[in-house]
Amino acid sequence: MGLIRFSSSLVLACLLGLALTACGDNMADQQKVEEYERAVDLPHNVGAQPPPEGTIPNNGPWGDRPFVTGKDEDGSYLDAVPIEVDAETLERGEELYHIHCVVCHGPAGYGDGIVVRRGFPQAPNYHTDRLRTVPDGYIFDVITRGYGAMLPYSGRVSPEERWQIVTFIRALQLSQDPQTEEVAAP
Ligand code: HEC
Repeated sequence: MGLIRFSSSLVLACLLGLALTACGDNMADQQKVEEYERAVDLPHNVGAQPPPEGTIPNNGPWGDRPFVTGKDEDGSYLDAVPIEVDAETLERGEELYHIHCVVCHGPAGYGDGIVVRRGFPQAPNYHTDRLRTVPDGYIFDVITRGYGAMLPYSGRVSPEERWQIVTFIRALQLSQDPQTEEVAAP
């Protein structure tokens, strides 16, 4: 009887021990192939695989091209977007703006998006002399690297898409600027 009680409490203790060990496990400890580990089942027989075709680095040898940084080799912002602009570019820019930016910057860019109205720090109004006259590359850089309370978008929006958004912001600015010939024209 005493022996049975002893062994059942031993089993309980073991189970408890196992449960506690399991709690300490984390995903980093799971079985996996490390980056430079030999892996006969994978192409090149090594854990690290080449990035999928079309991957765009945001640093490294290709990452400092003006298209990806918004800046010239001398570090100055590009004055104009380095992509062809047509109606389709603007439409895509508008779509992306509505996906990523409108919640804070508002549909017409006055900084009155729904998130701001619910208490997020005020997003700036695009229709100021300063933001009307900054180079296109500056806006691209703000989207890429973030600005103050605004997060960077380089991980979520590709460089091409960022330029498309810039063209749409420029169109928004023109649309709200009473000085614009295009708007003033009958
Ligand atoms: C979560 C809210 C939020 C989202 C989403 C957001 N922004 Fe902003 N943005 C801000 C805030 C807040 C500021 C001002 C930050 C500061 O002054 O600290 C700002 C600043 C800016 C500025 C002005 C920088 C300057 O020099 O004054 C630009 C341009 C801009 N955002 C563009 C964008 C674009 C384009 C997107 C979409 C890709 C976007 N933002 C998404 C909140 C947001």
